[in-house]
Amino acid sequence: MAKGLDVGTMNILSAKQERDETVFVQQRNSFVEIEYSDMAEQMLSRSEVLHIRKDDQVYVLGDDALNFANIFNQETRRPMSQGILSSDEQSAIPMMKLIIEQVVGSPDRPDEKVFFSSPADPIDSDLSTLYHQKTIQSFLEDMGYDAEPINEGMAVIYSDLADNDFTGLGISFGAGMTNVCLAYYAVPVMKFSVARGGDWIDEQAAQATGTQVDKVTSIKEDDFELDFRTDVGGVEGALSIYYENHLDYVIDKVAEEVDEEDVEEGLDVPVVVTGGTSMPEGFEKLFERHLEDADIPFSISGVRHADEPMYSVARGGLVAARSDEDQAGGANAGTSGAEEEPVEPQTDDDD
Ligand SMILES: Nc1ncnc2c1ncn2[C@@H]1O[C@H](COP(=O)(O)OP(=O)(O)OP(=O)(O)O)[C@@H](O)[C@H]1O
Ligand SMILES: [Mg+2]
Repeated sequence: MAKGLDVGTMNILSAKQERDETVFVQQRNSFVEIEYSDMAEQMLSRSEVLHIRKDDQVYVLGDDALNFANIFNQETRRPMSQGILSSDEQSAIPMMKLIIEQVVGSPDRPDEKVFFSSPADPIDSDLSTLYHQKTIQSFLEDMGYDAEPINEGMAVIYSDLADNDFTGLGISFGAGMTNVCLAYYAVPVMKFSVARGGDWIDEQAAQATGTQVDKVTSIKEDDFELDFRTDVGGVEGALSIYYENHLDYVIDKVAEEVDEEDVEEGLDVPVVVTGGTSMPEGFEKLFERHLEDADIPFSISGVRHADEPMYSVARGGLVAARSDEDQAGGANAGTSGAEEEPVEPQTDDDD
């Protein structure tokens, strides 16, 4: 068996194959610190709440963090920011380790393959992804996995462009980042990230309207649509403005980064958009419209929305891990004189 793992700023998800079904496990990448009390003890013992107790403090992690935060009147905290481990959060490492252990589970056999998503270095900030990537890799290897990073944009291509020979532009619109990858026949020819995503949109809209960020996030996730008809002056109007600004920003960066040499002449490139930030109704139409107006040095055959935007990256990791295991299996079985070179999953190991 093999697994895929999406390590995101807001959500951590694993994917594995069970017969003809892909099974996903998900947790929110957040936690809350509360004081140990009889009430806390009771709440923790009654359900399967993911938590760690340390002296008089209890840390509640994942999806339950928000409920506990509301009940105990505390703020949730997040181990990651802008796509990587947060340097402002002292507890980031133990919290992430526990969430990852719960989501991915123990390996089914020693050295089971897991491909975990890792962002490309951002082109608009000094952040380096190396420390983050190596830390996640070591958590997984300590658990007994054979762990390899896969670029987040490349994972989208594995997940959603199999029907196009793993050729096209994959864009994952996440919380902390937006990851872009252009691939030909499963070989990435360009990949980058920008250190902006849904969190940035929320912060800007919150600041512009004097609203709490959490409130803005929940309005956005509830039933916000990118139809530009409602609420000028309100939170939804501000969200629309920053959404549009974010799309233009990403498109400008694509135009800057993609060199004509990167693109085979005469090729129409399909674009797949995915990630939580791509969820609002109207997103891909808006993106397509703005892309048409942009000065992109290649021709685009169409923009499509991933089938399941929250699951693409984990599924892409699983596809890469299974293909890697299949090849290793073939090699171990001593198949001699193989006529055809299978497509190797490309990873970020040598970056
Ligand atoms: N229905 C929705 N409508 C709008 N935004 C949504 C919706 N659901 C989730 N989001 C937003 O999507 C983002 C989370 O997406 P996702 O899980 O793809 O990010 P991530 O992988 O955790 O982050 P990253 O890839 O940047 O590290 C958050 O900003 C969240 O508010
Ligand atoms: Mg992501």
